[in-house]
Amino acid sequence: MPDADLLNGELEITGRITTASNATFLATIADTVVVYKPIAGERALWDFPDGDLASREVAACLVSEAFGWNIVPRTWLRDGPLGAGMVQLWQDIDPDQDAVDLVESDAVPDEGWRRVFDGTDDQDRAVTLIHEDSPALRRMAVFDIVVNNADRKGDHVLAMADGHRHGVDHGLTFHVEHKLRTVLWGWLGEQLTADELAGIDGVCAQLDGNLGAALAELLTADEIEAFAARCERLRRDARFPAPHGEMPAVPWPLF
Ligand SMILES: Nc1ncnc2c1ncn2[C@@H]1O[C@H](COP(=O)(O)OP(=O)(O)O)[C@@H](O)[C@H]1O
Ligand SMILES: [Mg+2]
Repeated sequence: MPDADLLNGELEITGRITTASNATFLATIADTVVVYKPIAGERALWDFPDGDLASREVAACLVSEAFGWNIVPRTWLRDGPLGAGMVQLWQDIDPDQDAVDLVESDAVPDEGWRRVFDGTDDQDRAVTLIHEDSPALRRMAVFDIVVNNADRKGDHVLAMADGHRHGVDHGLTFHVEHKLRTVLWGWLGEQLTADELAGIDGVCAQLDGNLGAALAELLTADEIEAFAARCERLRRDARFPAPHGEMPAVPWPLF
């Protein structure tokens, strides 16, 4: 929970993030720059019927905190000039880094990157979707599996100057049905590390206490049960899963 100033201080809209599909604004609370997404600006989604997207974003942040991996920037619910919504701390990215990239297929770097798939671009060139092979991004992929993220696009991975990676835009999470749509498939079938397994254990333990109680304010009981089951399954399998089901395994557009 943020301090009282961030909860109650005047929120002033300073711009609109025009690439965003929903009503997503840049705003300030005193000197703190935030993203503000009013619930009233959410587009209705046929495949996410329950509740609002803002609550899912906050729930995703709570799970991120339970992992202790600082994936999701601090996110909370509060009022604003366009009504109640979610607010998230703005992160200044490094414009010279990309954790996810689409490159010409003969230019895939030899080391430090994972291939997701090959295709052709609109000029018929062979291209390959790649992402970096880093502990920070692996942690994000583990997080996405358990929250059932249906929208891990390239632009929802923020590359920070120090090498850290934040994930944003978690409105399409926690569905009871399998919805995982992500660009982070590069470790498919590989074993989770001891650190990754310990992260899942920590989340499972907290689900019986504070985390479970906090999620109950944001998600349905069925969604929380499905979340717990995904955590347990991933802990048992101890491997990055392969895509399954009838839905596409990657979001579109990819970025
Ligand atoms: N907390 C943040 N810090 C920095 N950039 C952000 C943050 N949240 C979103 N963005 C940027 O704004 C874009 C749009 O935000 P996003 O959360 O994806 O909104 P929408 O739900 O409308 O798609 C993101 O792709 C990302 O580039
Ligand atoms: Mg988005």
